[in-house]
Amino acid sequence: MSWLEVNKILASIIVAVIIVSLISIFGDILINQNMTQKAKNAYLIEIDEEDSGDVAEETQNLEIEEIAVFLSSASSDNGEKLFKKCTACHTYEKDGANKVGPNLWGLINNQKANVEGFAYSQALAETGGKWGYEELNNFLYKPKEYIKGTKMNFSGLKKIEERADLILFLRDQAETLAPLP
Ligand code: HEC
Repeated sequence: MSWLEVNKILASIIVAVIIVSLISIFGDILINQNMTQKAKNAYLIEIDEEDSGDVAEETQNLEIEEIAVFLSSASSDNGEKLFKKCTACHTYEKDGANKVGPNLWGLINNQKANVEGFAYSQALAETGGKWGYEELNNFLYKPKEYIKGTKMNFSGLKKIEERADLILFLRDQAETLAPLP
C-alpha cells in the first residue's frame, strides 16, 4: 500500500466522521426547533379559567331543578315535619334563639347572614345577596357545595319535593308572606 493510498483512506474516514457529526448537529437543531414550536403551541392553547368556571356553574345549575314550579303543589305541613332535620341547630319562631345555626324567622327574601348575635362563617358572611327561593333551593340541595366553607354541617336534601315543602314552611315563618315566584 502506498502512502498515497493510506492518505486517501484516512481522508475518507475523516470526511465520513465529519459528515456524521454534521448530521447529528443539524438533527439536534431541528429537534430543538420542533420543541420550541411545541412549547409555543402549548402556551397558545391556554385554558381560559373564567370560561371553565362558567361551565362548572352551568352544569351545577342544570343538575338542580327550579323550585318555582314545585312550590305551587308543596305542603307546608309536610315542611314542618321535615324541619325536624333542622331543629338540632335551628329555631324558626319569632325571636327564637340562635343554636348551632342562626334563628330562621323571616328568612325568605331577606339578606343572607343577617341574624343579630350569630357568628357566621366568613364564607356565608361574604356571600352577599338575599335568600330568594332559588338560592335556598340550591343551598339546601348541597350546602357545602353552594357555599364553600360554610359551617352548616348538613349534607342536604336531595329530593326537590322535600326542599319545596320545607321552603314553603319557612315562608310561613315571617311577619308578611313573601310573594311566591
Ligand atoms: C348541624 C347543624 C345544622 C343543621 C342540621 C342545619 N343547619 Fe342550617 N345552619 C347551620 C349553621 C352553623 C349555619 C351558619 C352557617 C355559616 O355561618 O356558614 C346555618 C345556616 C343556615 C341558613 C342561612 C341563614 C342565614 O341567616 O343566612 C339557612 C337558610 C339554614 N341554615 C337552613 C337550614 C335548614 C332548612 C336545615 C334543615 C334542612 C338546616 N339549616 C340544618 C347549622 C345547621
